[in-house]
Amino acid sequence: MGVAAVLVLFLASFAASAEASALHLKGGVVVNADQETLADLLIDNGKVLEVGPPGSLMAPDAEVIDASGKYIMPGGIDTHTHLDSLFMGQNTPDDFFSGQAAALAGGTTCHLDMVMPQKGGDILGGYARYREAAKRSVMDYSFHIVITHWNDQVEEAMGKLVEQGLQSFKFFMAYKGKLQVSDELLAHAFRRCRQLGAIPLVHAENGDAIDKEQQRLIKAGITGPEGHQLSRPPIVEEEATFRAVMFANLANVPLFVVHVMSRGAMEVIAKARTAGQRVIGETLASAIGLNQSLIWSSDFTTASKFVMSPPIRTEEHRLAVRAGLAGGALQLVATDHCGWTSAQKALGRESFLKMPNGVNGIEERMHVAWQQLINSGLASPSRFVEVTSTAAAKVFNLYPQKGVIQAGADADVILLDPNAEHTISASSHHSKGDINIFEGNKIRGKVVMTISQGKVVWDGSSLHVQRGAGRFLPRPAFGDLYKGLDERDAIRSAEMYPYGPVPVKRDLAALHAKQEL
Ligand SMILES: *[C@@H]1O[C@H](CO)[C@@H](O)[C@H](O)[C@H]1NC(C)=O
Ligand SMILES: [Zn+2]
Repeated sequence: MGVAAVLVLFLASFAASAEASALHLKGGVVVNADQETLADLLIDNGKVLEVGPPGSLMAPDAEVIDASGKYIMPGGIDTHTHLDSLFMGQNTPDDFFSGQAAALAGGTTCHLDMVMPQKGGDILGGYARYREAAKRSVMDYSFHIVITHWNDQVEEAMGKLVEQGLQSFKFFMAYKGKLQVSDELLAHAFRRCRQLGAIPLVHAENGDAIDKEQQRLIKAGITGPEGHQLSRPPIVEEEATFRAVMFANLANVPLFVVHVMSRGAMEVIAKARTAGQRVIGETLASAIGLNQSLIWSSDFTTASKFVMSPPIRTEEHRLAVRAGLAGGALQLVATDHCGWTSAQKALGRESFLKMPNGVNGIEERMHVAWQQLINSGLASPSRFVEVTSTAAAKVFNLYPQKGVIQAGADADVILLDPNAEHTISASSHHSKGDINIFEGNKIRGKVVMTISQGKVVWDGSSLHVQRGAGRFLPRPAFGDLYKGLDERDAIRSAEMYPYGPVPVKRDLAALHAKQEL
């Protein structure tokens, strides 16, 4: 992180927040997932008070913000982050303060963080640790809970967590011997999710296959970052995605596939959706913005930056996934933000097995998505809003509090200037890592203002955030994705047994009598 960025964060943490005044945004184009309109916007008390035709809103005391020539959009929601996390023996440099401040500087105003398992597998205790860590928050947030083992206590803990407003559980199908769960666990857990009205999330890669490939590559002397790539080819992602879709189908439960990085996995999801199954595909800024070419760099620090799982793929996959996101095969774009320092990445210099997996993105996602979807001509601003904000709010039951600009919604709002050009760099980003996978990427379109809870927290060049201002968002179970599932169950069982009711009545007495003869 650059010196300037350090200073901004440091000052920001002490900046007392003045009593927020009402804001009157004039002359911008308000974009929601369903339409864009030239409109004015009135914000007060942390909420959107009114949206109306230009010049129609009266608020003499409000601070006027000229939004002409800018898009006014719902703040981004990142469905997949790892802040203040311990992973592969390392603590992520970003905590809830620095990570969220970075997010706000990039137009993201809300995120869902992964509660990773604690030693001894205490799920509720682990969750409590994250709630404590999140007291440093500067924007609104919620959590997904990672489940890595199965017993009665886990089933019970899931129930308790749902009561506390958590409605999503994550399962790793990779990281053998560590986080990886069995097929049997998936079968149990998906049914439990269904009972609770919760959404199961899967990291879909075949961990057993990867484990064997890793051993083979290390033995062959391929120990650098390219070994990481070669050990996890697209087909291991595609297979696991299909397996997760299959278990979700059996349980008739909605499924959320995190970080879809390859064409094959995307097509599995699209096919399931075409057949009427409720599968949501999340892709990442790294998947639509980058190909894996730099992993083959002879400079270790450069190559190591891109090591993440599933890996960043070839250009062909990037273009396919990007088009799929624009066209509707995939539903939203997140980051899996788990940025490391170059020193932490260097722990893997002798073996890619020891390198912390993960990349930055919480700050860059909105800009990368804008560049890739809008400047490519693949998508409209409304579609951009849908995949960066609205879809996330709907899937995780935060809508219409988040994900839309309308009266009554939270005033999490961004202004984007489509003509402002900028270049992404570790020397100017706000996240704490000293490396950036999007280093040197030129972007046309810049978030010039971020409003969180009705306050201007990013003015295009500096942050005005307040430690502790972020709120935990409870999310009720049985959200929109659950509507109709019971009816579907009844119809499906009729379809599965078209030959009459089960169990089939049979006269076994006669058979017994015959056998006794
Ligand atoms: C991959 O990405 C690099 C930039 O990182 C770019 O120069 C190159 O054209 C892309 N395509 C291929 C096929 O490598
Ligand atoms: Zn992740």
